[in-house]
Amino acid sequence: MYFQQKYERGFGTFPLKGRDLSEALSTALDVGYRAIDTAQMYQNESDIGKTLEHSGITRQELLITSKVPIDKYTQKDFTPSVERSLEQLKIDSLDVLLLHWPPADGDIEQPLEFLLNAQQSGLCKHIGVSNFTSSMLRRCKELTDTPIVTNQVEFHPLLNQDTLLQASAETGIPLASYCSVARGEVFKVDLLKQLATDYDVATGQIVLRWILQKGVSVNAMSTNPVNIRANFDVLSFTLSNVDMARIDQLTHTNYRIVDKHLVPWAPEWD
Ligand SMILES: NC(=O)c1ccc[n+]([C@@H]2O[C@H](COP(=O)([O-])OP(=O)(O)OC[C@H]3O[C@@H](n4cnc5c(N)ncnc54)[C@H](OP(=O)(O)O)[C@@H]3O)[C@@H](O)[C@H]2O)c1
Repeated sequence: MYFQQKYERGFGTFPLKGRDLSEALSTALDVGYRAIDTAQMYQNESDIGKTLEHSGITRQELLITSKVPIDKYTQKDFTPSVERSLEQLKIDSLDVLLLHWPPADGDIEQPLEFLLNAQQSGLCKHIGVSNFTSSMLRRCKELTDTPIVTNQVEFHPLLNQDTLLQASAETGIPLASYCSVARGEVFKVDLLKQLATDYDVATGQIVLRWILQKGVSVNAMSTNPVNIRANFDVLSFTLSNVDMARIDQLTHTNYRIVDKHLVPWAPEWD
């Protein structure tokens, strides 16, 4: 399966650990998920490694993403932190390695260099970023010709990300979502519930399908087998242009979950 096809439906693993992680991830693999999203900060890489080892799924089938936290953006710490991720995940190389956040001073040049070095040494196949603003995406393009395969950001129907979508189209750096169902907030919205009835699917499926049709890959986390299956089963229907536009209207809510209150080092968002 091609990278983009596999990557477009990823299973998120924050904040799962231990038995919760292994049960949810095993269900996700059973329903067909092959892209798995983790991060050093989630402290669950070793639980993921153990679950994958016993899954019977070959390494080639999987697409594993992890992320380096900002306190490891130093010459001394970056590479060893990635080597530790590999050891815990029990793999030789990550499929995708991301900078989890832009550095506090906003100067991305050095962390990007560390990331490129990690790729050149074979620690990862692809590189990407997370929580980068439009200007940072443009700066990435100035600094390197190496493809940056994703910018993982908060993306759901209650948040307007048009500026970032525009920068993504301009730079060719695709977006991937997190907080895809706005941690449950989307389930309160009447329009989304109505569309779920109209299309005879679950509300979560309407939301994830809208994200995909915006050209954005999805990361969704669930511990509930019914939701895990539904979140993966989002390719069998298509939202009409009219309904896409109706959902687009909801983005004016501008409800953002991951802001400076939650993450003090978050950048000034677009
Ligand atoms: N790069 C970053 O900085 C960053 C930040 C945050 C998250 N992430 C990644 O993105 C992933 C997803 O984001 P998230 O987990 O924060 O938020 P989310 O996917 O918006 O919300 C997860 C919550 O939604 C519920 N849920 C999921 N699907 C559902 C459905 N179909 N119907 C009803 N409820 C549903 C889950 O409950 P149940 O378990 O009951 O289904 C869970 O409590 C994370 O796991 C992580 O891998 C990355």
